[in-house]
Amino acid sequence: MHQLSHRTPESWVGLVEENLDDFLRDHASNERKVCTSALQLLTQHPEREELVRELIVVAQEEMDHFRRVHALLDERGQQLGLDEPDPYMTRLRQAIRKPDVETYLRDRLLLFGIIELRGFERFRLLGDHLADERLRAFYDELARSEAGHYALYLKLARLYFPRDEVENRFQQLIALESEVLAGLPLRPSLH
Ligand SMILES: [Fe+2]
Ligand SMILES: [Fe+2]
Repeated sequence: MHQLSHRTPESWVGLVEENLDDFLRDHASNERKVCTSALQLLTQHPEREELVRELIVVAQEEMDHFRRVHALLDERGQQLGLDEPDPYMTRLRQAIRKPDVETYLRDRLLLFGIIELRGFERFRLLGDHLADERLRAFYDELARSEAGHYALYLKLARLYFPRDEVENRFQQLIALESEVLAGLPLRPSLH
């Protein structure tokens, strides 16, 4: 597993606990967005059978995460929120190169993998440190699932693109992700 150079401080968990409803709303919105991204990617590449097969499963799993986070909000008497501007995603999406369909696909596979890796890192922290036992177990399970998605996006990138090209671009994008996150205030949100 690749390492993220900017690590989330443990104090972030306290911020989440103090603003749990806001965090859950943001988390739900992120799960919905990654589900949509997986569906968009497979819709645009029907010729890539392995990608279609795998991303149908990813979309289903993200949709299930969305359903379960929504159920937690529901239980707490809370509703979903409207999508807020997300500086993290905006900056990362700006880094995606689109000179041709291939490069666009490569960059999205790598970036989606890195976003999953960050999800894994943050859910791992919640799964280790939240005071609420049930939430701890929930985030522990989600961390494993996002780690699997990270591995899958990377596997697809390596399946369709030369290994050196994938590694070089991955290193650029993973460095950028840490730089972007380190430049943002620590918030009770996924990013
Ligand atoms: Fe997810
Ligand atoms: Fe995921």
